[in-house]
Amino acid sequence: MDARQLKIAAAQAALEHVEDGMRLGIGTGSTADEFVRLLAEKVADGFKVQGVPTSERTARLCVELGVPLFSLDDLPELDLTIDGADEVDHSLGLIKGGGGALLREKIVAAASSRMIVIADESKLVETLGQFPLPIEIAPFGMTATLLVIERLAARLGLTGAIVQRPERDGPYLTDGGHFILDASFGRIPDAEALANGLAAIPGVVEHGLFLNMASAAIIASQSGARTLLATG
Ligand code: A5P
Repeated sequence: MDARQLKIAAAQAALEHVEDGMRLGIGTGSTADEFVRLLAEKVADGFKVQGVPTSERTARLCVELGVPLFSLDDLPELDLTIDGADEVDHSLGLIKGGGGALLREKIVAAASSRMIVIADESKLVETLGQFPLPIEIAPFGMTATLLVIERLAARLGLTGAIVQRPERDGPYLTDGGHFILDASFGRIPDAEALANGLAAIPGVVEHGLFLNMASAAIIASQSGARTLLATG
């Protein structure tokens, strides 16, 4: 199986957890896109689902393929969210936000009774941090915010560049109109301390550490899709 087939395998396995009539958070990224394609096939066959997208990108794909969409204000409590991840550790801690949708992804996941992560095995890591951690910040005072983040990182013994994510014609802008910093820490031994520290910085809108949020991760490899369950 190539990389895309692995994503499809994870998405296919996740689809088995989606029941008729569910209120469903729908993630963002190339793996989540495969899930949307499979879901759309079921919807075309008469399967009922009420989807809440985690990004404008996912919303466009759902509309194009005929997956019924609602806003999170229409459906503030969801049964399940299916989403991808940039990294997954064995306790189901995640790094997310490579696709820039971390804020909406976290809000939607938090509004869901369960979150199932879908990924190929390249995303499974011993310790989070090899993938640069996305940190969504307010444009106002971004230099001051960056300084405070750098001081926090130094206190936690984290080194590595923290750079603003660019786009073709300037800075990358999230769906919420914020900037993203990508922090190349390499290894984050105490993800909880970093998550708490980042959450306490006023200019930080959200960060890509999703801890204690996923209830299961479906990891696809050449030998099939296996499910890791959150403990506790
Ligand atoms: C989007 O902001 C991210 O959190 C994605 O879920 C993550 O980047 C995974 O994307 P892929 O499935 O494309 O690797």
